[in-house]
Amino acid sequence: MYRFLLKNMKTISTIKEIQENLRTCRKENKTIGFVPTMGALHQGHLELVKRCAAENNICVVSIFVNPTQFNDKNDLLKYPHTPDADCDLLKRAGCTYVFIPSVEEMYPEPDTRQFNFGPLEKVMEGAFRPGHFNGVAQIVSKLFDAIMPDKAYFGEKDFQQLTIIREMTRRMNYRIEIIPCPIVRETDGLAMSSRNMRLNNKERQEAALISGTLFESRKLKGQTTVEELKEWVIETINESPGLEVEYFDIVDGNTLQSISSWEDSSFRVGCIAVFCGEVRLIDNVQYDRL
Ligand code: PAJ
Repeated sequence: MYRFLLKNMKTISTIKEIQENLRTCRKENKTIGFVPTMGALHQGHLELVKRCAAENNICVVSIFVNPTQFNDKNDLLKYPHTPDADCDLLKRAGCTYVFIPSVEEMYPEPDTRQFNFGPLEKVMEGAFRPGHFNGVAQIVSKLFDAIMPDKAYFGEKDFQQLTIIREMTRRMNYRIEIIPCPIVRETDGLAMSSRNMRLNNKERQEAALISGTLFESRKLKGQTTVEELKEWVIETINESPGLEVEYFDIVDGNTLQSISSWEDSSFRVGCIAVFCGEVRLIDNVQYDRL
């Protein structure tokens, strides 16, 4: 029965074709929402897509595993690809156009642009994954140029990415509203991620300790200093044999700089990266949102 309610979804692989289609939409005064992804879609992505479809006349989703943002070539090689399942899920979530370009289409020649986001890119993911945000800014700006949406949707799961995209949008004068969307979690709290499917059973069970510890740290916030809480989070997670914290920091949610006392900021976010076996997972928790 639902089949009759599903809108047609069109799959497009060239910039020229997506632009032609969207030009017609704009002439009809339709609003365009956009969700960039790297595919291997899960409920976290789909919440962004559903919201985009609900808030705009046209919902465009891109699937492109962007080589320039992978500093670890092994991570790129192992990145999951599930295009058929992705398209099925997107159709049900209300997507109008799915844009799946080739690497040659997005990078006909190497992109030599160097973005400089200053202190925002020197910390956390930026510090541990050199060049990562430059690659993200390269592809997101190319996609924004091609699609020119009214609104673009990004998950708070990648908190630093969201901040950097906001900054890029401001600096490059894109007339695009950046819409942040809350983290979607599995029932045991693990933040949904395309990388979770690379975890074996044991690793998958251990991984729940990451969000569990972050949630617990919210309760302890009033009783400890920032420094003590950071140590507690790192030690608690590292006690699990399969987990190794790469960094955990408590930062101001706007500047992304470390705070040394709770009074330093009214928007405090704890951001973490953890190796679970070979798989690197990230998560974060907002201390002011209960
Ligand atoms: P990807 O990891 O596929 O994520 C696409 C979007 O989905 C991002 O905005 C991300 O924050 C959001 N997302 C992923 N898991 C989520 C979860 N559990 N809850 C809420 N949102 C979630 O992020 C990228 O791709 C790329 O860097 C990209 C922006 C597409 C540029 O290549």
